[in-house]
Parts: sequence; C-alpha cells; structure tokens
Amino acid sequence: MGVKIMETALRDGHQSLFATRMTTEEILSALEEIDQAGYHALEVWGGATFDACLRFLNEDPWERLRKIRSVCKNTKLQMLFRGQNILGYKHYADDVVEMFVKKSLENGIDIIRVFDALNDIRNLKCAVSATKKYGGHCQIALSYTTSPVHTVDYFVGLAKEIEAMGADSLCIKDMAGVLLPNDAYELVSRLKENTKLPIQLHSHCTGGIAEMTYMKAIEAGVDIIDTALSPLSGGTSQPATESFVYSLKGSIYDTGMNLEMLEKAADKLKKVKDKYLENGLLNPRALATNPNILKYQVPGGMLSNLMNQLKNQGAMDKFDDVLREVPKVRADLGYPPLVTPLSQMVGTQAVINVISGERYKLVPGEVKEYLRGLYGASPAPINSELKIKIIGDAPTITHRPADDLKPQFEELKQKYRDLVRSDEDVLSCALFENVAVKFLENLKQPQEENEIVEINLYIGR
Ligand code: CO
Repeated sequence: MGVKIMETALRDGHQSLFATRMTTEEILSALEEIDQAGYHALEVWGGATFDACLRFLNEDPWERLRKIRSVCKNTKLQMLFRGQNILGYKHYADDVVEMFVKKSLENGIDIIRVFDALNDIRNLKCAVSATKKYGGHCQIALSYTTSPVHTVDYFVGLAKEIEAMGADSLCIKDMAGVLLPNDAYELVSRLKENTKLPIQLHSHCTGGIAEMTYMKAIEAGVDIIDTALSPLSGGTSQPATESFVYSLKGSIYDTGMNLEMLEKAADKLKKVKDKYLENGLLNPRALATNPNILKYQVPGGMLSNLMNQLKNQGAMDKFDDVLREVPKVRADLGYPPLVTPLSQMVGTQAVINVISGERYKLVPGEVKEYLRGLYGASPAPINSELKIKIIGDAPTITHRPADDLKPQFEELKQKYRDLVRSDEDVLSCALFENVAVKFLENLKQPQEENEIVEINLYIGR
C-alpha cells in the first residue's frame, strides 16, 4: 500500500511561514482542487488558527470550519488539540475539554491529533476518551525532542501506553524539525515492531533535513506523512506535497494522488503567498535553510515568533544570543519539548534572560506555574537551585493538574449569556476570552445600527 499524505498548508504551513494570517476566503480559493487531489486528510484547525481568526482577521473560527467542511466532500478534516490545554495555553476542566471535542466533531472535524507538550499522558486522557465517545478518530502525537531522557526506548514505552489508551493512530510530532534521517528510520522501525497503530510523521524543513528524514521513515514503514503544497512549503514549514508525490511515483510507496489537481491548487496558493511576501508578513528569512536549529532545537513557529519579538523591540542583533540561551533554559526546566505552550515559555524566558542581561531576573507567571507542577510532570528533574530561587517554598503538585479544576462550562455559559449565540461561542470565550468577547461585541454592533435605520424608515413612512 502506498504512502498517504496529510496536507498542512491550511494550518501549519501558514502558521510556520506568516503568523497564521491566511483568511477563510484565501483557504476556500484552493479548496475544491485540494479536496479532489486524493489526500488522506487536510489539517485545517488548531490553536493558532483559532486565535488568529478572532484576534487578527475578525473571523469566527467555527464558521471557517463549517465553510471548509461544506466544500470538502471527499477528504477528512484534521485538527491539532493540545490535550488538557485544548487550543489555549492553560489547563481547562474536563467538561470544557469534552465539550470542545464534541463541538469540533459536530462542526466538521474527523480526526483529532492530541498531544501534550510534556508527553504527560495524564493530560491526554480526557480528550482521548471524549474523541472516542463522540465517534472521532483519535490520533495521539508524541512530542518529539532530543535530550538525555528522550531515547528511542522512552518513545517506544510511551507508544505502548498510547496504544493501551485506545488511540486509533500515532504521530511522531517533530515540531522543531530535528529528527535526523537515520534516527527516524530507527524510531519508526521500533514503533512498527512494538505497536499495531498506523504511524504518521510530522516534521519541518527548517534545518534542511526533513525530506531525507521522511524518505528514511517511509523505508521504515511509516504510513502517513505531513506535507504542504509547494507555495507554503520549505523553510520553517513542511516538505512540498507535489515533490513527494513525484518522488514516490511508480514505487511501492506511490501515493496515487492527482498531480493535475495539486498543480491547480498550488497555482491558487501561489497568489496567496505572493500577497504575504509583498506585505512583509512572510519574512524571507523563514524560507531559508538553517542547520543551526539542529543545534538549538527551535521549532519553525517559535523561530518566526522570536524573530518578530526581537524585530519589534529593535533587538534583531540579539537573535543568535537568544538561540544560544534557549537550550540552557530548556535544560534548567527538565528538558521540556519545545512545543506550545512550553515553546512560548522557554522562548520568552530566553528573550528576557538575554535582553535584561541577568538570567532569571524576571520570570513570567506561566514559568512559575510550570515549576509548581501545574502543567504536569517535567520529563527530567528541574534544576532544584533555580526552582528554590524562583518559587521558594510555594506549594507544588504531583497529581494530574486538571484534577483540581471544578466543572467550568455552565458557569462560563452564564457569564457570557448576553453575548453568545451558541455553545461554540461559549468555548471561544473560554479559550481566548478577551479577543472572543471583542469579536462577539463587534458582531452585535452592525445589528443595532440596522435596528436604528429601520426605526427611522418607519417614522419616515
Ligand atoms: Co508543526
């Protein structure tokens, strides 16, 4: 059987290259062709896409999902789900997690890829059981990273637990693009030997190795690869879809995909890309090959965020210093994989450490909470001197963080009852409170104006 392909242009592609700003209209411009190309699935939704819809595009992310669903008659839709964080940056109560899963599936999602930044599987359980309960395909992702504790044996052990939890498939999520070709061969081979789950590979081209890594993974039996249509491929994004379809053609790995449709879709997305190159949101540096990330282990999305942060502060000259500080912060914090929300925490701490000139002089609240165990168990022990210096004798926990959270959904529904139109709106408010409230208030504005116009007309008559 050939290799299957998941298209990432509509989620990770624009997230990695131009800060997740693609509009629904731009997505829809290429969607019919994409739907006819023969993909295994399309990745269309995730934390940053949801947030950017509300924050920057004045769009309802649920409406985007429904529009995509209405066009995609042939292809499964996939989303990325941060375990107990859902799409946000903190832990939510189980009832909110369950409701979010239910509503995502109702509005058109087929496959939910669930991961936890720390690979603490206690943080996956609620999302996994909700996905099964409401009939979705549950894929669990291993947050891939390298460190003294992240060995092949570690990941194989984790995969066995994941299979026992009832996952339908397994993803190796290499968000930093640091999985080397031969390591991928070994990891995929060992996972295939030790589980029956279909295995999907997700990586990034940042370091210039992703195509080689995918090829070795394919030879080791990987079932599905994540690629992006050529205009949104390369650099901090995924390898190009068309290039893999050509490369595998005629072999036992032939994808069987429709190249003509892919070409048409790529032509449409080329126009979208040109717009972001012209308006500067797509920084050409994001398209470069940067083997240094193999040393620093910084994921594509984090790299472009760090660039933007430093650019805004006029401190681009500190870029290399910040990249050197990241692995040091990571070691101090017990080698968390650099994925949301840990990538933001480690990145922000590294920026503060460099710009303030004194390490840990300032520490964000989220990092303090992490040190107290509120995000789950760190992969390796945290630097104990640092922990005492930062949080002193503040209480720490070792149980599943969400066990301390009471049900939240009904309370949220009450809180926003004058604003929301649906349970979906309640969830938007739960996850991105300020931006969602602002978005919903704006929606109300034009309606009130219409009412006034109607009254005037009535009086006039
Ligand atoms: Co990614």
